[in-house]
Amino acid sequence: MAKQAQAICIHNYGGPEELKLEQVQVPDPQTDEVLVRVRAVGVNPVDWKITEGWLKDVLSIQFPYIPGRDIAGIVEEVGPGVTAFQKGQAVFGQSAKGGYAEYTPASINTLALKPDAISFEEAATIPVGATTAWQGLFDHGNLQPGQTVLIQGASGGVGLFAVQFAHWKGARVIGTTSSASVDFVRSLGADTVIDYTSTSVEQAVHDVDLVFDTVGGPTLASSLKALKNGGTLVTIAGQPEEAQVREKNARVEWFSAQVSHDLLATFAKLIEEGQLKVVIEATYPLAEAAQAHQRSKTGHGRGRIVLKVAD
Ligand SMILES: NC(=O)c1ccc[n+]([C@@H]2O[C@H](COP(=O)([O-])OP(=O)(O)OC[C@H]3O[C@@H](n4cnc5c(N)ncnc54)[C@H](OP(=O)(O)O)[C@@H]3O)[C@@H](O)[C@H]2O)c1
Repeated sequence: MAKQAQAICIHNYGGPEELKLEQVQVPDPQTDEVLVRVRAVGVNPVDWKITEGWLKDVLSIQFPYIPGRDIAGIVEEVGPGVTAFQKGQAVFGQSAKGGYAEYTPASINTLALKPDAISFEEAATIPVGATTAWQGLFDHGNLQPGQTVLIQGASGGVGLFAVQFAHWKGARVIGTTSSASVDFVRSLGADTVIDYTSTSVEQAVHDVDLVFDTVGGPTLASSLKALKNGGTLVTIAGQPEEAQVREKNARVEWFSAQVSHDLLATFAKLIEEGQLKVVIEATYPLAEAAQAHQRSKTGHGRGRIVLKVAD
């Protein structure tokens, strides 16, 4: 008889109240997949954007749908022909088939070995956040040592990695956050931290080479004003006004992060070397996924929210 396990499911698009803990059938891992016994799963804004139907025109899902991407856990079973991972290994990465679950299949191309130095909960904060930060700064922003970068949303699940990677690269880093997280962002390696609740970013920052905007909305206008003429704006949370872009001769890059084994392994190495910190904002049990979504939807906080699935 097929094995059953618990997972958070939705049967319709809707708010956090749609997230229900249910018994589901554990899928078999397919070719190039392993089945992971999930210990912890990160909660990303994209998870509630999907469950609330914000992305339904660009991303189709089938109900019942299990949300969640950023997993950390133990390999329970390997799929046909898989030799890259073995049963019993501690891994972290991305599940494409629903991570808010006791078991989930994951592609071997989006998994890496978990660093021993961090817990499963900490590892579950990494995949989407760190990948987005890395690809935004380096692949799309082409950030070089000695350049100045403004990171909007520097205390968030993406921003906290962006500050660390930009500092590691040898750039001069300016980060924006609210009063409570100013010291935190400085501790990540920011040279200058701007409290956006008391200081106007556009008045305080000028002529930066690159802006990485993780906030969107009205913040995008201040991002463009802070940019040097001909500079680059990398945005992951919205599109700026065309007229403002033309005025600054700005290069604007929007992208969707692609988690990969190689990048995850790079992050694991940086963690083992003590060069990269991970930060949990709050931990909830799997059954309280609705409360976790509610908290993530505020758009404020420091670090990544995590669901603990098993000890
Ligand atoms: N395109 C992609 O591939 C991609 C990938 C990942 C994420 N995203 C998107 O990027 C956005 C951020 O994701 P996340 O995971 O980092 O979210 P998050 O963990 O919820 O962090 C949001 C951060 O924004 C800060 N913030 C809010 N208003 C701000 C303002 N006006 N100025 C400066 N900082 C402000 C908050 O800090 P305070 O508490 O101090 O306000 C908080 O730390 C989301 O919209 C997400 O969907 C896109």
